[in-house]
Amino acid sequence: MPVTAISNMKDARICVVMVGLPARGKSFISQKILRYLSWLSINAKCFNVGNYRYKAGIISPKADFFDFSNPEGYNIREAAAKQAVEDMLKWYNEENGIVAVLDATNSTRQRREWILEVCKENDLLPMFIESFCDRPAVIETNVHDISTTSPDYEGTDTEVAKQDLYNRIACYKDAYQTLSTEHDNNLTFVKLVNIEEEVIINRIHSYLQSRIVFYVMNIRPKPRTIWLSRHGESIYNVEKKIGGDSLLSPRGLQYSKKLKELVDEHVGDAPLTVWTSTLRRTQQTAQHLEFKKLQWKALDELDAGVCDGMTYEEIEDVYPEDFKARDEDKYEYRYRGGESYRDVVIRLEPVIMELERQENVLIITHQAVLRCIYAYFMNVPQEESPWMSIPLHTLIKLEPRAYGTKVTRIKANIPAVSTYKEKGTSQVGESSGDKNKFHKLLVDAPELKE
Ligand code: SIN
Repeated sequence: MPVTAISNMKDARICVVMVGLPARGKSFISQKILRYLSWLSINAKCFNVGNYRYKAGIISPKADFFDFSNPEGYNIREAAAKQAVEDMLKWYNEENGIVAVLDATNSTRQRREWILEVCKENDLLPMFIESFCDRPAVIETNVHDISTTSPDYEGTDTEVAKQDLYNRIACYKDAYQTLSTEHDNNLTFVKLVNIEEEVIINRIHSYLQSRIVFYVMNIRPKPRTIWLSRHGESIYNVEKKIGGDSLLSPRGLQYSKKLKELVDEHVGDAPLTVWTSTLRRTQQTAQHLEFKKLQWKALDELDAGVCDGMTYEEIEDVYPEDFKARDEDKYEYRYRGGESYRDVVIRLEPVIMELERQENVLIITHQAVLRCIYAYFMNVPQEESPWMSIPLHTLIKLEPRAYGTKVTRIKANIPAVSTYKEKGTSQVGESSGDKNKFHKLLVDAPELKE
């Protein structure tokens, strides 16, 4: 198992059990947890009970299917939950699962008692996360989202779908037993009341559980935009050198001016905060932007250690074994006296945590760091992320949504060198040969719709 930022991995197989009425953002929270843990290289998987019902062929049932006094509906839902749990146990055992997220309403104590029993028998640490919400406006937004995207309502008029979903919620409400310190004092749980209005945390035992708690306390399901850009072309880029703290080339300076135009055009009047690294090329790139600016040391480029200031050709000459080792496992390879991609991900965690709380941020940083941030939002596997091509002089717009992130790339149309290096060569540049299947991911990938 790779070394990670999380300790005590062996004794910490966690079963995160979502709790809450329909349309309370449980799936959103589940997906976020999944993406966050996967980014930290923790083997995590989500088991959504609704999907098991679909697999059993029950799609688009009317609201009374969910009435707890309807035996047929109840039995089918119980069977779907059992199937989800069965698959979850198989996954822990056969695929070395660490954190499973059981995404379902789990709204009664009886259901939760059963899950607790399963966890006890299988040596899993149960952890309940309840999303409690009684704000009509938030519920209405969620109801609208589900009515327009769920397979249950495909082809159904939105107003009819919304009414049915409200009726479904009413069925669950009668049987719903919220978590409370009074009744559930022996359980490990987090209860989020109206997202961040109140957070009740009870009996958190392990380090990994506390990380999950901290994370869910930071996520906000509000619309926002994250803007990403590499710094403008630098003098080192032109000289094919890596690292350093060089200034921008004349074309890089041109990009810094163009960036202001792009921001004015695409961001408009929305308040924006600009984050840069502590290196001069990112600050120079931000120089014409009249917004609040913050420098993060954590956004500095991957530290190339003894190779800082060298070209790839020089590295191949002087450190041939290192050069090869890095190509073989770019994510794990740590430069002598420097860093690996994994190291960068670990130091970026506070940046990600803060980003989750922010509304509109423009991050101007470096190739490796951008790859790691992009991988978090786009759920790119770690073996692929170090090979993604993120060209200079391009503004990337990320719009996180409930089930994914929409990405738009805005090219500045100012020429720049390519700093992309393919596997197995010391030459830089985007080749048409495409030896590496990931290298065009960002250059050619079609824009994600939702
Ligand atoms: C569903 O069947 O859609 C969800 C079942 C549940 O979580 O109660």
